Amino acid sequence: MNTLTAYAPELDTFKTLEDGPLHIDTSRQPYTASLLDETSYVLEKSRIALFFDAMFKGRVVNPSENRAAGHWTLRAAGNLDLYPSAVRLMHNQRDEISHAQMVQAQMERFVEQVRQGKFRSPEGTEYDSILHLGIGGSDLGPRLLNEVFSKLGLAKCEGSSGKPGSTSIKNIRFVSNVDYHEMKLALEALNPKTTLVVVASKSFSTRETLNNFGHIRNWLNSAGEEYVKHSIVAATCKPEKAKALGIADNQIFEFSETVGGRYSLWGPVSIAIRIVYGNQAFNEFLRGAADMDSHVLNSDFDHSIPSQLAFTDWLNLRNGVTSLMMSPYDSRLSLLVPYLQQLWMESLGKGITSEGAPLMHAACPVLWGDVGTNGQHAFFQMLHQAPFQTSIEILAIARPDHAEQSSHDLLISHAFAQAEAFAVGKFNRPSEFLDSSLNFRTCPGHKPLSLMMLDSLTPHALGYLLAMWEHRTVALAAIQSINPFDQWGVELGKLIAEKIEKKIQTYDEPMKETNEDPVTRHLLNLYKDLQSNA
Ligand code: F6P
Repeated sequence: MNTLTAYAPELDTFKTLEDGPLHIDTSRQPYTASLLDETSYVLEKSRIALFFDAMFKGRVVNPSENRAAGHWTLRAAGNLDLYPSAVRLMHNQRDEISHAQMVQAQMERFVEQVRQGKFRSPEGTEYDSILHLGIGGSDLGPRLLNEVFSKLGLAKCEGSSGKPGSTSIKNIRFVSNVDYHEMKLALEALNPKTTLVVVASKSFSTRETLNNFGHIRNWLNSAGEEYVKHSIVAATCKPEKAKALGIADNQIFEFSETVGGRYSLWGPVSIAIRIVYGNQAFNEFLRGAADMDSHVLNSDFDHSIPSQLAFTDWLNLRNGVTSLMMSPYDSRLSLLVPYLQQLWMESLGKGITSEGAPLMHAACPVLWGDVGTNGQHAFFQMLHQAPFQTSIEILAIARPDHAEQSSHDLLISHAFAQAEAFAVGKFNRPSEFLDSSLNFRTCPGHKPLSLMMLDSLTPHALGYLLAMWEHRTVALAAIQSINPFDQWGVELGKLIAEKIEKKIQTYDEPMKETNEDPVTRHLLNLYKDLQSNA
């Protein structure tokens, strides 16, 4: 078991990591260089290198589904100059990449048609709104992109050119949950005659999305059946299923089965973002991710940001740190943690290795958090004083998008201060422990902590950051020989939900003894009582 070393500021205990717009200080991760030599450093290094090599060469890296992982081809498609020829020319990559190029071109043409008002609603008016349906990886990415791009003011101009935006679409709504409250609020703000609907679903079989799609078809039909035929766009790996539900062929944007849902925001699931904010801004986002791919492809383990962070995650895990609190000190990134939670925990939250051996400890820390400084007034108290093993990651943006430098300096001072407080602590010297008048004020400090800084928040920087997190996730999986691309654990709940849904719909009297789960039976009886007593 590795031993944590006490935090000693004067020690250069870990190198800082820098590339492109990203600067990461890991001096407060409590590992000494000697410790790294002690562990099976070489083994982990080789596992990561082999995994990335296999992934970028299109080999099967998702063995339980017998698939490659092709999410990165969606950003390579328009940025091949950043990828070495060995990657470009692998024959199956050529197919993947050329398919991605065809789909990106198809989307760009359609997006321009909508933005220039050439693709209009059946009554001939320009669309003024978009409704995006999807859940999980078919929702979290587009929502995050919408929040950042809208707060960067991109909808008002064509990317960085400054040309007034040519789109009439200013209103984009997302519906993911099957809870009709969300749908009701969205539809109250939309007109079925001027709303373009995007249905994003890799499988086109997700119960919530299909249920919501049924509501939307009825809503569009209330304006006329031509709106059902004309005003729906699909993003999916199953075009035949979308077509069978009446979506026009040329409005179905297909992506490869090798693109995992939580890795899919680079492609058709984000078409609403292309429409509202323009192809240029979105392609800058893809370029940022491609730059991160290039960093990974051209860096050795010691200089690869995702590999180094994954190795640090792994050392923390081996020291019992199974919580990672991530706090972006930027209100435009309030949806970053929810997005990363699916990427991180649906990829790494596994119980066995790819070879089927049981895991003896969690393969990733629980990822949670909120924007700073808000988190300081919610849960930082626990982080400062509770005997609770967690690592901490603070993300700051050096250059703001506003002129209030003093407010930004205040924000940054809090980010740096919290990092120092978590590392150094207070009243935590042995002599102070003995003084009972002090110990309610003791902050132990010594929390494993990384402080990340982006030059500024741009579509490129966001693409770079999210791709970095993808590669960090994959690298941590590689170290532990687990499959980051499947998610068999989500199937059980879906199967039980189907049975319970049928029970509720056919329920006519307090459920008698059946082979059902007794607690569920009790809850169903209570639910029906409460409903009938309304
Ligand atoms: O949560 C399970 C899951 O399959 C995710 O992996 C996926 O992002 C989400 O459901 C939605 O799936 P789909 O895009 O196929 O509708």
